[in-house]
Order: sequence, then C-alpha cells, then structure tokens
Amino acid sequence: MRDAFPAELLRDRDAALPEVSEPQVVRHYTRLSHRNHSIDLGFYPLGSCTMKYNPKINDEVARVCDDLHPLQPAETCPGILEVMYRTIELLCKITGMASGTLQPYAGAHGEFTGMKIFRAFFRSRGEARRRVILVPDSAHGTNPASAHIAGFHVREVRSNGDGIVDAETIEPYLTDELAGIMLTNPNTLGLFERHVLRIAELIHEAGGLLYYDGANLNAIVGGAKPGDMGFDVVHVNLHKTFSTPHGGGGPGSGPVLVTDTLAPFLPGPTVAKTREKYELREAGPASIGRVAGFHGNIGVVVRAFAYLLSMGRDGLRAVSRLSVLNANYLRERLRPMIGAAYDEARCMHEFVLSARSLKERTGVSAMDIAKRLLDYGVHAPTVYFPLNVPEALMVEPTETETLETLDEFVDIVAAVCSEAERDGDLLREAPYTTPVRRVDEVRAARHPVLTWGGDTSIRSGASSSDKE
Ligand SMILES: Cc1ncc(COP(=O)(O)O)c(C=O)c1O
Repeated sequence: MRDAFPAELLRDRDAALPEVSEPQVVRHYTRLSHRNHSIDLGFYPLGSCTMKYNPKINDEVARVCDDLHPLQPAETCPGILEVMYRTIELLCKITGMASGTLQPYAGAHGEFTGMKIFRAFFRSRGEARRRVILVPDSAHGTNPASAHIAGFHVREVRSNGDGIVDAETIEPYLTDELAGIMLTNPNTLGLFERHVLRIAELIHEAGGLLYYDGANLNAIVGGAKPGDMGFDVVHVNLHKTFSTPHGGGGPGSGPVLVTDTLAPFLPGPTVAKTREKYELREAGPASIGRVAGFHGNIGVVVRAFAYLLSMGRDGLRAVSRLSVLNANYLRERLRPMIGAAYDEARCMHEFVLSARSLKERTGVSAMDIAKRLLDYGVHAPTVYFPLNVPEALMVEPTETETLETLDEFVDIVAAVCSEAERDGDLLREAPYTTPVRRVDEVRAARHPVLTWGGDTSIRSGASSSDKE
C-alpha cells in the first residue's frame, strides 16, 4: 500500500495520535457540542432567523443522498430529480410562482440570483438603463449588498411612522431608470406591508419588477402568496420556513422562484418532467448561467421536501397561524418590561422591542440584556437590527415552542430587567457562564485572524504587533 504513494508524501514515523477509547471520544465531542447553544438545547428566539425545531425524521430521510454523487449521470438518479422537480412545484404553489431553481446556497445568494435575473430581463428588452433598485430602510443588509454586486444602484426608501412603506414614498423613483424594489413582507419589524398591492401596481406601471425577500415567509406560508401580492421573483430560505438546520451559518438553501415571463432567465440546468421521466434540461440562451457548482445543497432540499410532505397544506397553514399567535403572546407580555418599537395592535411572526428608555434610565443597553440572557440558558434575540430602531431587540419565538417555554422566557426577561434596575454592572459584565465571555466585536471585524491548515496566523489589516 505504501508503494502507491510518492515517497516524499510518506511519514517517516507514526503520527502522534492520542490513544483514547471510544467512550472518551464520544464524551469529548458531546461535551464540546454542548458548549454551543442550539435549537436542540434550548429556546432560540433569534428574530428574522426562524430558528424552529428541525424534525429528526428529515435527517433520516436525507440519508438517501449518501448514495449519490454530484457528478453521476442524471439518468442514474431519477429519484433525486423527482424530489427536485416536486420541491420546486410545491414551492411554486406556496409562493404563487411558475418555476424556479434550487441552486442558491442561501437567502443572500438567492437575492443575488434574483437581481441577476432582473438585469438579464431588462437587457433582453433593451432597457439596460434600468439600474435603480429601491430597498426599504428596514431591510436586511444583504438586500442592498446583493443589488449592488449585481450592478444596480440602491436607493433607500424610508418606512413611515408605523414601520411600513407608504406607496407615495416610492413615487419620486418611478422613472424609466427604475428596475424595481426588494421587499420583505412581513418586514423585519414583524409588520405586514399593507400597501404592497398599490406599490406593486406603481412599480409595474413604471416598467419595474418586484423582488420578494422570503426570509419571513413563515408568517404567511399556506395563507397568502407573494405571487398574489404582485411579486415577480421570490427567494425562500429552506433553513428558515422549511425547518432545515442553520448549522453554524450553513448549509443553507435559498431557492428562487419566478413568474412565467422570467423563467427563461433562470440558471440552468433545470429539471423537466416528460411523459415517462424526469430529466435535466440545459439552460437556454437567455439564462443567467449557473450560480452553483452543482444543483444546490441537495441534502437540505430533501429535508425540506420531507417537511413539506409531512406538514401538508393544512399543517403549513397551522404553522404560520401559530407562529403569529406565539409572537403576539410574547409581545403583549414583554412590552410592559421593554417597550415595543411600534404601537401596532398586532405583529406577525416576530416583533421588535426597543430598550431605549431602559437604557436612558439604567445605562443598560440591548446588548447587555442579550448577553445576560445567555447566563439563563436562552439564546439572545437579534440585537441592533433593524437599524431604524434604537436599542432594538428582535424576538421570533416560532411555532415550535410551547406555552411553558414562552412563559419561562417571560420570567427570565423579567428577572434580567429587575437586575438592570438594581445593578447595571451585573449586566454590563455578562455573560458569566459561557465558554467565551464578551469578545471585542469591532476588533474582531477589523482585524480578523485567519489560520490556514494549523499554520501561522494570517492577519488581515493587523500590524504584526497586534496580539489577540
Ligand atoms: C430579512 C432577511 N433577508 C435576507 C436574509 C439572508 O438570508 P441568508 O442568511 O439565508 O443568506 C436574512 C437572514 O437572516 C434575513 O433575515
């Protein structure tokens, strides 16, 4: 066997591997896994991320992918082609779109794909001058970033005092340079964009298109369709609405669905169904081309497909209703402790609190509250987002939490708020129980320490005297 490898690659002595028994290895990794907070360990109300429970049956079903290789000929894997075809079909039904692609690896990647489709569509019509994309001030940062890298000029539109976009706000942009708008509905404040139909009418009359950021689809899945609201391109985050794991930032999946008019611009190949089989079809000349090496994160797609089939239409409708109910329950119970950012009577699947007055009174910030919550064993809500709310704490309980868990969270927030009134320093120094305490986030972002293969650290923008 040693002869099979070049001599210079062979070891001249045995590797110094630790001699440990299986139970020791299992205990080591189990202990390590518990140092990370996960949805399997506790409540995870991270707003806009839809950290719902990931049913274990999905993982079991996804094991069918163990026997597949991305380079194997399509005719040898008709089963997975059928799963891809039917997943797109179901997502189209849910969103009110006509066809789609599973290639994008995340929501942001879906946005980029959608923006490339916008560009290709306008170019095909001799309207390459349409370069202006409108993005509300409550939008996720990936929206303007995706539009920008796809070659658009981003214009921010201000939300009104109720946290939503007024149709009149977009009127000044209705010119022949307008490409369209990116909207999240419900938006990141957990509020339904009530003027969406009028906005769609105005954008379409002006020759533009509408992009739906589906990060918050969980609030309306099974009940309302982006297609009926006038959207032309939609992305969905399978790792949010369709219960697949977020797993430390991935693997995600952000399928993109489009109207019939935009179908020729989709990335290829796509899966087609003929009378007797499913097959891969190469992209036509109008396609934006591939956006992924293969067909996307197929294991994630299989998990989402299993979820879709197990929930069914009624189940999905129940999911959105329950996620909205849970959010409204928590909002009503928490707003007397930390004020709500908006006075809307009802929120959708998530809501935003503003710790501004608590901070003015006690000096304790949204970040301090978030850090102290970790000591109580719950993940913190999203903080300082959306950017248009001071001291924002964005809470999304999801439908998979019980009333007991919600009540327990309320008790914990109450305890943290009374600590803030009594002893602000206790919160400013938190957390005390996590493996890593507070990190210097600004420094981490400005001077990342990157390592390669256990080798010496490669510093970006840091002087050699910087020691982390
Ligand atoms: C509103 C919104 N849009 C877009 C994204 C980006 O999605 P992804 O993280 O899958 O790239 C997120 C992520 O949380 C989001 O909340």
